[in-house]
Amino acid sequence: MFDAIAPRYDLLNHVLSAGLDRRWRDRAVEALALAGGVRVLDLCTGTADLAIATVHRAPGVSVVGIDFAGEMLRRGLAKVRSSSLDRRIQLVRGDAARIPLASASCDAATIAFGIRNVADPQLALKEIARVLRPGGRLAILEFGQPRIPGICTMYSWYFRYLLPMVGRLVSKHQSAYSYLPASVSAFPPPDEFTRIIAATGFSDVRAVPLTLGIVYLFVADRK
Ligand SMILES: C[S@@+](CC[C@H](N)C(=O)[O-])C[C@H]1O[C@@H](n2cnc3c(N)ncnc32)[C@H](O)[C@@H]1O
Repeated sequence: MFDAIAPRYDLLNHVLSAGLDRRWRDRAVEALALAGGVRVLDLCTGTADLAIATVHRAPGVSVVGIDFAGEMLRRGLAKVRSSSLDRRIQLVRGDAARIPLASASCDAATIAFGIRNVADPQLALKEIARVLRPGGRLAILEFGQPRIPGICTMYSWYFRYLLPMVGRLVSKHQSAYSYLPASVSAFPPPDEFTRIIAATGFSDVRAVPLTLGIVYLFVADRK
């Protein structure tokens, strides 16, 4: 599915979020409080927008972006090369269930809008804990469901009807943008996901609502 929507993926991200997706990724990078020269894993990196935002944050930071969709990575690689960032961002094809990196080889890790898609989120979190050094920070962005009356109804109409329709027309994919609200509904609510993160090797787990809870930023430290 991600290979099929890759050509229009970035455009749809920016349009459907009214440009907020960039701000959400910046908040995730900020939460990492990166020192210069560290190595960051960006799991489910897709077209590498978060990887690119990360290396711009601090001097000498490098990112390994991992994703299993070759076409998403190919688009990401074109952006990395055109920004002359190929020395600082490495893109690798791999599965979140078996991250192709050595244990304790990363100082920080991110996943933006990816954890909801992996078949076994607990396994992916355990894998991230394995590749992070003790004390290494994790920042996860994932869609939430705003609970504010009024906003909730309007957003729900947008997310369930308008977004899938625009997504289908622009991407020409029949189901990818209907899968989006369906997968968000099926994902555990923030307090439950916080407990899941804590149970997979992390401490100080916190969930920060962004843009009225449309998105949550989860931050945690490797024990
Ligand atoms: C919604 S996209 C997010 C991409 C990017 N992080 C962003 O912020 O735009 C989700 C990505 O997760 C990847 N993905 C899903 N399951 C995966 C898995 N088990 N292993 C690796 N990548 C996976 C998909 O290929 C896709 O590129």
